Amino acid sequence: MPVEMHRDWIPVALSADLPAATVVPAHTPSGILALWRSASGKLTALADRCPHRGMRLSYGFVRGEALSCIYHGWSYGRNGQCQRIPAHPDLAPPAAIKAANYAAEERNGVIWIAQEEPETPPPALEGFKPLRSITVGADAELIAGSRDVRMRLAGIDALLLIVGTGGSETVAHVMVDAAASEVECVAASRAAEGWRRDCERLGRKDLAS
Ligand code: FES
Repeated sequence: MPVEMHRDWIPVALSADLPAATVVPAHTPSGILALWRSASGKLTALADRCPHRGMRLSYGFVRGEALSCIYHGWSYGRNGQCQRIPAHPDLAPPAAIKAANYAAEERNGVIWIAQEEPETPPPALEGFKPLRSITVGADAELIAGSRDVRMRLAGIDALLLIVGTGGSETVAHVMVDAAASEVECVAASRAAEGWRRDCERLGRKDLAS
């Protein structure tokens, strides 16, 4: 099923968390995508469902410039097209065997995806640098009205890019003042964990009321 995007670009990961030749599940408000970086560093987002028998492609592995499914090893290129079926090495896979693909771009250390290539690039978020992504066990609407949050973390200016997962969890990609020192970043990271605990307490109270 196609993923519905609720804003042009959705922040899904920090560049530093996706090294070359790896794949991760990318959370969006409408489901999970398989986000992967090829051996040469190219970024791709595909539907997280193998067209063969539905295994999650985010459980797969990257070899060179293709993503292979963990189940029977069918491999997919950056356009989502199946390139190879190991059980039939001489067969050219039919064009119909294709995983849906999404626009994926990175800017200022943040990876963004979109259903179709928007007319404008993802936001630059000038003045900030990526710190970490954290998962919060609370609904995005409850903790931030599903909006990005500007706050101070341990005295440092921070911007939290909020992504609801469509369930009871929220992912926050934490950016901090680009001028923050290493020590300040460590303190801000701890403060972000405190913010997460506060949000989760708030979520529990909401459930109890
Ligand atoms: S389910 Fe993916 S290759 Fe079979």
